[in-house]
Formats: sequence, C-alpha cells, structure tokens
Amino acid sequence: MMTGARTPLVEMRNISIAFGGIHAVEDVSVDLYAGEVVALVGHNGAGKSTLIKILSGAYQRDSGTIFVNGEEAQISNPRDAKKYGIETIYQTLALAENVDAAANLFLGRELMTPWGTLDDVAMESETRKVMGRLNPRFQRFKEPVSNLSGGQRQTVAIARAIYFNARILIMDEPTAALGPQETAQVAELVRQLKSEGIGIFLISHDIHDVFDLADRVVVMKNGQVVGTAATKDVTEDEVLGMIILGKCPPGAVAGPGALQVAA
Ligand SMILES: Nc1ncnc2c1ncn2[C@@H]1O[C@H](COP(=O)(O)OP(=O)(O)OP(=O)(O)O)[C@@H](O)[C@H]1O
Ligand SMILES: [Mg+2]
Repeated sequence: MMTGARTPLVEMRNISIAFGGIHAVEDVSVDLYAGEVVALVGHNGAGKSTLIKILSGAYQRDSGTIFVNGEEAQISNPRDAKKYGIETIYQTLALAENVDAAANLFLGRELMTPWGTLDDVAMESETRKVMGRLNPRFQRFKEPVSNLSGGQRQTVAIARAIYFNARILIMDEPTAALGPQETAQVAELVRQLKSEGIGIFLISHDIHDVFDLADRVVVMKNGQVVGTAATKDVTEDEVLGMIILGKCPPGAVAGPGALQVAA
C-alpha cells in the first residue's frame, strides 16, 4: 500500500447494469472520500439513481467492483450495504408519519429495557443527542413527524441514518420538495455531516446546490460518465455543457461518455 495516499471511503469501478436492452449504467467509475460531498448530476434517465441503488444494495450490478475503505465489498442487498455503513435517504424519506422522532429513529431496531419492554426513556434521550448534533434548535420531540416541516423531517431521516453509524450517506434529491429556508437548513446539515467525516453522494438537479455543497461533481449522460471535476475547477456553465452536450471542459477529467471532438 502506498503511504501518504488516502484511501477512498467508497470506490465504484467499471459498474454496469442493463434493463432489457437499456444500458442504464455503463462502465461507471466514481469514488468518494471521507468528509467529501460528491454531486451526481445529469438529465432525467442519465442513470444517477440506478448507480446509487447499486451502492445501496437495491439493484444488483451486471459487472464492476465496489470497494469500501480499500477492500472489495460484497453488497447484494440493503442489509449488506448498511453493514458497510452505507445509508440512503430517498426523496420520500420513508418516515412513519404518525409517530414521533424517537419512534422513527428506532423503528424496527427499538431499544428494550432488561425487562423486555420498550425503553422509551433511552430512545428519547438518544434521539435528543443525535438530533442535537444536527439541529440544536429542534425541540418538537413529542410530536408526530407529520407535524414537522420538510427540513425537520429531513433531519429525522438523517438522524436515523447516522445514529446507526453511517459513514457513507446517499441523498437523492434532498431539497427537491423544499422551500428556500428549508433548503438552507439541509445545506447546514450537509456541512455538519461533512465536518464529522461522513462522505456524501448527493444527487441534485439544482446546479446552485451543487456548487454550494459539493467538493466534486460527476456528470452522467445516457448511463455513462461524461466527466468528473472539482467544483472549484469548473463553472456552472461548463457543468451545464457537460450535462446537455456531453462536452468536457479543461478543468474536468473526461469519462467514457464524453463527447469525442474530431481533431
Ligand atoms: N427497474 C428498472 N427497470 C427498467 N428500466 C429502468 C429501471 N430503473 C431504471 N431504469 C432505466 O434506466 C435509465 C436510468 O434511470 P435512472 O432512474 O437511474 O435515471 P436518473 O438519472 O436517476 O433520472 P432522474 O433524474 O429522472 O431521477 C432510464 O432509462 C430508466 O428508464
Ligand atoms: Mg433519479
């Protein structure tokens, strides 16, 4: 092993999957480091969700390899992914609406007293700790999550993921349904998670969010990677050019899906 070289938290190498005749994801390689946000962008149908569903164990790839902390990972289902510290927050959040934050955090993994009853005191106290890390102002612990704002609900979903030791967080369109204030709240959360060393794959259609939050951006088109770039090395217009035309600017590393320009 090389000394000094950091090992990525996750590396997906040469990943492909087809549905019928459609190459939803074709020869895609991406990586993610601790404390880093990598945005996955591209048009509808570009293959973003399919790629992250392979990482989260929801889909089985046809070929390619996944490494977690430098070691080959066997991910065949969502339970395997969780074992590797990979948690996904879908746009729908998948919260139980009529119960409170603590009940959502521990849904299916309830804490019990030595007498075999639900340990509500411990669950609430743990919930207060993890929610406090994410949003110290949150106080609505006794209310069903259906009463909470979009940003607060997002916080509950993230708290649930990180309480169970997520190191790698996948967020698919986290701000799509939110207003500006709540979007800012989620941005704050993302920064907090980064500072704790969590790596985040962020799928977003909002180019401003991408430049605001992501360290690197990976552009996909027709299932392939057009290019990968540090957000500081490219402009918003250049990223739009990658998304729309597949044109790779000088600040990006071209992928297999980059438009080939005749010399
Ligand atoms: N379960 C499936 N069965 C058949 N085709 C699928 C399935 N899932 C995805 N696809 C196809 O794979 C391609 C990539 O879709 P995917 O949902 O990954 O795109 P996306 O980049 O997430 O798009 P969006 O921005 O609309 O969410 C599309 O052509 C889609 O129709
Ligand atoms: Mg999608």
